[in-house]
Amino acid sequence: MALSPGWRAVRSSGFLLFPWGTGSLLDPKMKAFLEENTEVTSSGTLTPEIQLRLLTPRCKFWWERADLWPLRDPYWAIYWPGGQALSRYLLDNPDVVRGRSVLDIGSGCGATAIAAKMSGALRILANDIDPIAGMAITLNCELNQLNPFPILIKNILDLEQDKWDLVVLGDMFYDEDLADSLLQWLKNCFETHRTQVLIGDPGRPQFSGHSIQHQLHKVAEYSLPEPTRQDNNGLTTSTVWQFQP
Ligand SMILES: C[S@@+](CC[C@H](N)C(=O)[O-])C[C@H]1O[C@@H](n2cnc3c(N)ncnc32)[C@H](O)[C@@H]1O
Repeated sequence: MALSPGWRAVRSSGFLLFPWGTGSLLDPKMKAFLEENTEVTSSGTLTPEIQLRLLTPRCKFWWERADLWPLRDPYWAIYWPGGQALSRYLLDNPDVVRGRSVLDIGSGCGATAIAAKMSGALRILANDIDPIAGMAITLNCELNQLNPFPILIKNILDLEQDKWDLVVLGDMFYDEDLADSLLQWLKNCFETHRTQVLIGDPGRPQFSGHSIQHQLHKVAEYSLPEPTRQDNNGLTTSTVWQFQP
């Protein structure tokens, strides 16, 4: 496959997993650990058509002492309400992604990138700082019978900006410093490339109280399913916003 200059820049500056070939790059021990400590599920979320390996009440570590978990916090084992809304929106509105290039920042379990792929995105990059998220995304692509897409394990906010038609961020505004850095990065992205930016968020204080609020246009709002409400301390809705600086 011929790579555009943008892709070569990403490859040379980041750690890219190319998981084509049914998970051949997955470390077998880590794969076994992930399979043993997650459950395949598609229920209780806004996107029942996407199957994911998640940490559920039927998994040992749901109940186990947190300090016994041998890896960094498994954000990738949760399908966050912001990502759920964004994925639902992409599945219901395939025109938003069809034939376009899509970057999913903070992809976690990869559900939003998977939704983009299911809706016909031409080119996808899933990005996360956690290498285990990269493995989980690869397994989740397999679960949904999709050819895995490239995954960049790196803080993309430190890299030169590539041109994307659409950047999506599910539940990424959970920390004030991260929110500030994201806002700056997204502004540059919009100003340089006129990139469309969609953000999914369930009304977290770090998002609702941030100055980004003055630059948003509401696109869709979803009522969260009961299991997601229970896992998220009373959050009841999740909203998709378009960033318009
Ligand atoms: C709350 S989770 C959201 C995951 C997914 N988007 C969803 O909605 O289910 C946030 C994710 O962002 C990742 N993350 C945090 N800072 C990041 C950064 N600077 N660049 C890329 N990923 C980051 C974390 O590792 C985590 O997987």
